[in-house]
Amino acid sequence: MADLILALDLPKATEAIALVDRLPGLRWVKLGPILMTREGPDLVRTFLERGLRVFLDLKWHDIPNTVAGAVTAAREMGVSMATVHILGGRAMLEAAVLAAGPELALVGVTVLTSHDESAYAQALGRADISLSAEVERLALVGAEAGLRGVVCSPKEVSLLRRRLGAELYIVVPGIRSSSDPMADQARVATAGEAAHNGATHLVVGRPILASSHPPAALERLMKEAQCTNS
Ligand code: C5P
Repeated sequence: MADLILALDLPKATEAIALVDRLPGLRWVKLGPILMTREGPDLVRTFLERGLRVFLDLKWHDIPNTVAGAVTAAREMGVSMATVHILGGRAMLEAAVLAAGPELALVGVTVLTSHDESAYAQALGRADISLSAEVERLALVGAEAGLRGVVCSPKEVSLLRRRLGAELYIVVPGIRSSSDPMADQARVATAGEAAHNGATHLVVGRPILASSHPPAALERLMKEAQCTNS
């Protein structure tokens, strides 16, 4: 059982609000850099007023003082979950965890789901790399720093659930059914597989946003993952 989070990667607030208003079963929305850069915190407040939980996915990776300040702003805004890059390092993560307090669930990005092994090795300037070992290493760094959970691809969920124990959140984008286009995602699985393997939150964007009937797509995915959406 997992919660479903709708990734609102749309260009305008009006479009995002109109879509959300067609999805009464929805409990979580994810706002990322596209909408936040265009529309700002007013949109967060709009969704909070509708009783939705907001996941602010800005993937902070900066010096500790700057990230702590951003996390504090998110917490004060009433955001329920936010992301940092675990690659930001131990001092940054600890400062962020302190700023989040118990109210804001801070989750750490391990390796972006758009990376495959060769793209990631190239980005790090290394000859070759095991992605699952890298995801595991980063997840353990995040857990030790006190993060509430981690973000990983559907391919690493089982491994991380075994390594992290039962308590930590495992937040999983890259959800695709066999008929969905992969687009820029490289490491994908279905909602059912990810939930079965131990994901607590499924992040879904284009399979709902690009659907000809978003309410039906949402309902199908929620059933498949036996979503709690509590
Ligand atoms: O459209 P799609 O379902 O691929 O959207 C996935 C969402 O999850 C996007 O908003 C993307 O920014 C986010 N995400 C990701 N990979 C990560 C972390 C977040 O795709 N590692």
